[in-house]
Amino acid sequence: MHDLSPRPGDLEPVETCSVDELRALQTERLRWSVRHAYDHVPHYRAAWDAAGVHPDDVRELADLARLPFTTKADLRDNYPFAMFAVPREQVVRVHASSGTTGKPTVVGYTADDIDTWATVVARSIRAAGGRRGHVLHNAYGYGLFTGGLGAHYGAEKLGCTVVPVSGGMTERQVQLILDFEPDLIMVTPSYMLSIIDEMERQGVDPRTTSLKVGIFGAEPWTNDMRREMEQRLDMHAVDIYGLSEVIGPGVASECVETKDGLTVWEDHFYPEVIDPVTGEVLPDGEEGELVLTSLTKQAMPVIRYRTRDLTRLLPGTARTMRRIEKITGRTDDMIILRGVNLFPTQIEELILATPALSPHFQCVLDRDGTLDSMTVLVERREAATRDEADAAGAHLRHLVKASIGVTVAVDVVDPDSVERSVGKMRRIVDKRPRR
Ligand code: DLL
Repeated sequence: MHDLSPRPGDLEPVETCSVDELRALQTERLRWSVRHAYDHVPHYRAAWDAAGVHPDDVRELADLARLPFTTKADLRDNYPFAMFAVPREQVVRVHASSGTTGKPTVVGYTADDIDTWATVVARSIRAAGGRRGHVLHNAYGYGLFTGGLGAHYGAEKLGCTVVPVSGGMTERQVQLILDFEPDLIMVTPSYMLSIIDEMERQGVDPRTTSLKVGIFGAEPWTNDMRREMEQRLDMHAVDIYGLSEVIGPGVASECVETKDGLTVWEDHFYPEVIDPVTGEVLPDGEEGELVLTSLTKQAMPVIRYRTRDLTRLLPGTARTMRRIEKITGRTDDMIILRGVNLFPTQIEELILATPALSPHFQCVLDRDGTLDSMTVLVERREAATRDEADAAGAHLRHLVKASIGVTVAVDVVDPDSVERSVGKMRRIVDKRPRR
């Protein structure tokens, strides 16, 4: 694989400044951000007044913990535009996340916010090994979803030649990769797998394409999946994280030279990890729910936004900023099966440890009488025989029992039988009757 480590002068000064300089910048920006939110967003003023705290109480980074959290419900209650801190006329773009229930959450950007966003995405692509002049195939969905346009503006800002393909029409994705010879691809990891399968179907060896780096995010994926993709594609696979409420993609991103978790672009987004039950701030290194505070956003500041994503904060390595460990899952995606907690990412790791099974899978929840049950629906690999697939199914069942401690059913199906997505893959299918 290509050596894409940064050369001297490639990085922005803030990426390698001292920790003290970074903390000083964050402190100054935090004071501005809380003041801006309080002065211009009635929700924050009401919530903080009720909690008896005031922006003047926030003098240091640690004071942030005195402010109440902000949740998705707060954004819904203020649908569509009441979380905006600037007159609507100054908002040059909105995005929205569909959500499975109720109203979508709407987010807004000033022209400066769009520029900030492009800066952090450009930084993310550069961290992944992208450079000015690279061709970038962007298969994140364009539209209300932040993936497509977020990646697009960042890639342009870096100076890439962007191919704005969006998701879907998988045959054409392959065609464009062969014809335009991109260096970089941005796409959800689950859709990348579909593109690889389509290459193989067309008789193209995925290891022979021009691609040097895949920048994968918008859904959880494991280090085992990284190995799978790097092996099948002969390219680097790095992780990009973000959420629309905070800005979109580019909140945190992996550096290709270390691939050891995602550097949080802390000069714009201040991270905390909390105990999801008590709300207490946890020391760095402990696993909990990620909470993010925007430090520079104008149109829609978010203060202590509860992401529901589970991870831990780690010290900086390739950059000054701290890292987050690869996201295990969302608190809402935690399956509680007969008293045992589990995440689809744990199932993904075990599937990838079973050679006859492909990474196309879903966790199907059902109820037998009063007990919940789970079936792992997983495809056999093309090369595996039916007998090998059955043996692999039994083996997976054993692995789940031995490592997670719960009994599940495993249904190994033929290639192409598990639902595909062109964006975020639905890993959990809940067929349990509503009580
Ligand atoms: O998914 C933004 C994005 C687009 C990120 C493209 C990366 C690439 P939302 O649709 O608002 O925004 O969904 C945000 O997706 O809270 C996580 O649960 C999940 N997520 C995003 N990136 C990752 C990742 C975009 N790298 C929600 N690993 C977040 C795990 C991720 N989960």
